Amino acid sequence: MVSGAHPQQVRQLFEQVAPHYDRLNDLLSLGLHRLWKRQMVQLLQPKAGEAWLDLCCGTGDLALLLAERLRPKGMVLAVDAAEAPLQRARLRAASRPWLAIDWQLGDALAVDRPDGHFDGAVMAYGLRNLADPARGLCELRRLLHHDGRAGVLDFNRTTGLPAVLQRQTLRQVVVPVATQLGLQSQYAYLEDSIDRFPTGAQQERLAQDAGFSWARHRPIAGGLMGLLELRC
Ligand SMILES: C[S@@+](CC[C@H](N)C(=O)[O-])C[C@H]1O[C@@H](n2cnc3c(N)ncnc32)[C@H](O)[C@@H]1O
Repeated sequence: MVSGAHPQQVRQLFEQVAPHYDRLNDLLSLGLHRLWKRQMVQLLQPKAGEAWLDLCCGTGDLALLLAERLRPKGMVLAVDAAEAPLQRARLRAASRPWLAIDWQLGDALAVDRPDGHFDGAVMAYGLRNLADPARGLCELRRLLHHDGRAGVLDFNRTTGLPAVLQRQTLRQVVVPVATQLGLQSQYAYLEDSIDRFPTGAQQERLAQDAGFSWARHRPIAGGLMGLLELRC
């Protein structure tokens, strides 16, 4: 087992961060997180009419993107363990009532749907926050149809120059900016969570152990982020 975060603390952290989450994400990534999310969706090619899952959906960026592509008739189940980000997601979706998104409070490690229910799934900046990322990948695989596909976007646990750059950015930009909003400890947690996170090669192995027939992890954003692409 790859040990991960403490679920109750993680949930509390995201309840506290929710009011600032979108603004900080845009500021700290210079808006690039939107590009990386679009890149992942583009790679996975969701099709009209399909059923998709957004695990650890937060304020709903990916669920909203997916739902636009699944129209008409397709749907997204978007699951998050914290209520505050879900409330923001529901508010965002309210201005687009034609989108079929079911926002659900729940645990990504135990989703209330039968085996093989979904054609595809995404998880952005979620796997790293799970108590057991290996179990998270098993649950993801369980929920997918026999020819399903999935994408997992997150920080890349890397070495060399990208690792130095990542650490310096976290310490000298991310944490000081978050501190201004009273969120120092919440963002200081990022560095520990990346240190605990499996490397790309480890993620590929964990995905194969979870039953995916094909898994490829690739560094993006100069190696700072990683995109794990999965096929059943
Ligand atoms: C860093 S945010 C990412 C949100 C969104 N996917 C994005 O990329 O903007 C991580 C989210 O995972 C959620 N989360 C953490 N552990 C979870 C779990 N066990 N089950 C479901 N959601 C969880 C948190 O509440 C938080 O909203």
